[in-house]
Amino acid sequence: MRKILVTSALPYANGSIHLGHLVEYIQTDIWVRAQRFANNDVYYICADDTHGTPVMLRAEKENISPDELVNMVHKEHSADFLDFNIRFNNFYTTNSQENKELSEQIYLTLKNYNKIEKKQIEQFFDEEKNMFLPDRFIKGSCPRCKAKDQYGDSCEICGSTYTPTDLIDAYSVVSGSKPIKKKTDHYFFKLSECSDFLEQWTQSGTLQQEAANKLKEWFKAGLTDWDISRDAPYFGFEIPDAPGKFFYVWLDAPIGYMASFKNFCQKNSVNFDEYWNINSDAELVHFIGKDILYFHALFWPATLKYSDFRLPDKIYAHGFLTINGEKMSKSRGTFITARSYLDTLKNPDLLRYYFFSKLNDSMEDIDLNLDDFLVKVNSDLVGKFINIASRTSGFIVKYFDNILIEANDFTDEDSISYINNLVALKKEIISLYDARQYSKLTRLVMSHVEVINEFVNKREPWILAKQDSQQQMNSDLHEVCSTALQAFRLISIYLAPVFPGLVIKIESFFNDNFKSFDQVELSAKTITKYEHLLSRIEQKDIDAMINLNLN
Ligand code: 2FM
Ligand code: ZN
Repeated sequence: MRKILVTSALPYANGSIHLGHLVEYIQTDIWVRAQRFANNDVYYICADDTHGTPVMLRAEKENISPDELVNMVHKEHSADFLDFNIRFNNFYTTNSQENKELSEQIYLTLKNYNKIEKKQIEQFFDEEKNMFLPDRFIKGSCPRCKAKDQYGDSCEICGSTYTPTDLIDAYSVVSGSKPIKKKTDHYFFKLSECSDFLEQWTQSGTLQQEAANKLKEWFKAGLTDWDISRDAPYFGFEIPDAPGKFFYVWLDAPIGYMASFKNFCQKNSVNFDEYWNINSDAELVHFIGKDILYFHALFWPATLKYSDFRLPDKIYAHGFLTINGEKMSKSRGTFITARSYLDTLKNPDLLRYYFFSKLNDSMEDIDLNLDDFLVKVNSDLVGKFINIASRTSGFIVKYFDNILIEANDFTDEDSISYINNLVALKKEIISLYDARQYSKLTRLVMSHVEVINEFVNKREPWILAKQDSQQQMNSDLHEVCSTALQAFRLISIYLAPVFPGLVIKIESFFNDNFKSFDQVELSAKTITKYEHLLSRIEQKDIDAMINLNLN
């Protein structure tokens, strides 16, 4: 049995969960559930990423304190995750006592290792607001094409990149005033000294090959020291012995993984050290988007290494979500929030299945094509998968008192071989889940769904039910329908991690409780009367969802 601690990236506390976020939470949640079905011991941990300038400024704009904003958003995020059947063992916050203590402890250990350095730098400063400005909060005209209102790092019109000092007529996004340059002391993590360690570690199998290759490019360019402090006013943790200086949000965010787990351990009498000690025998697995690879594959392992904690075993990066082949966009109504999906399409399992059918272990982007989504979900799930049960269960109820023939008692050669084939898939299914080869897994399972449907088509239970000989009808009809339903049960167990809401209904249909892939070795004995399991997606609901997000 493996002991695994799994995390998904911590969502920022300054915005709503949208479908782009959900790719990752769904990918991870399915992985976690599948590991549990493979009898492994898994904790799934997350938290809101609360600190930084955007949260501080938004709170100010809404006339509330950052703490109030963070609490409000935490409630919203928690409800979104719950309603999408994402089940963390703990969904916490980085704005916690545990995180403060761990961040301080880690910082002080880094300092002991002589990995922290104070340097004077020059930064843009807003005299009106009396604050230093992050690059994103400075705008001006592009030095190349002269387009107005471009950010301090790159031009959205001509694509050129530069530093904020290059901007023409730079202004502060916060007050509109012209920023001045001002000197200040910042604390740096001496990442350049960690190059040898990181170069070896990032090529040691912890990352996907394409990620490891990306890293090679970064090493070639050379690692620069990492600025881990920000000046007041800043919403975050003050640095010990450095009044007015705060930890940069990206320092305490990944420590939030540990802090959330610590909070969980305290509530559930789990041993924290067993998971984070340098010689821990548990696996540590981070799911992230490819945009934050730099933080997780460089800063984070270096932080852990020089604060005497264990290192991650795996960093699994996924690509971005496009909708209808394009970047999500507010003006097209495709910047779809989790809540607007739930309010219109209702069923989270449909999106879970669709993402599942498209995901694999690469960093390629995945596309949610809304026409394809409608067709695929309706045809795969309703038309094929659920259809197995809806077209056969009525006969079992009507003629056989709800009792199924168990697989061991099948006499028909086809029946025996279909069930044997399905049972024999167990190992392959477990390893496909483990390897995040979800689209391959979908194709494999759906090919069996088709085989069973063809079997039902060929044996025509509706004709068998009209046979003259009562005895013949009994045995044939009973075995054909039982085969279909036993197969339906096995497929449901295999796909249980994908659509937990639907599975609850299927469990009650079989008077069963699915917990482990091992249950495919047993048969169902009875069913209950078939109740409607799943509704089709309607175009009008998709249209309503887009309308809700148009602005
Ligand atoms: O990119 C983001 O959305 C960050 N909030 C992710 C943080 S992940 C972890 F390191 F905390
Ligand atoms: Zn430009």
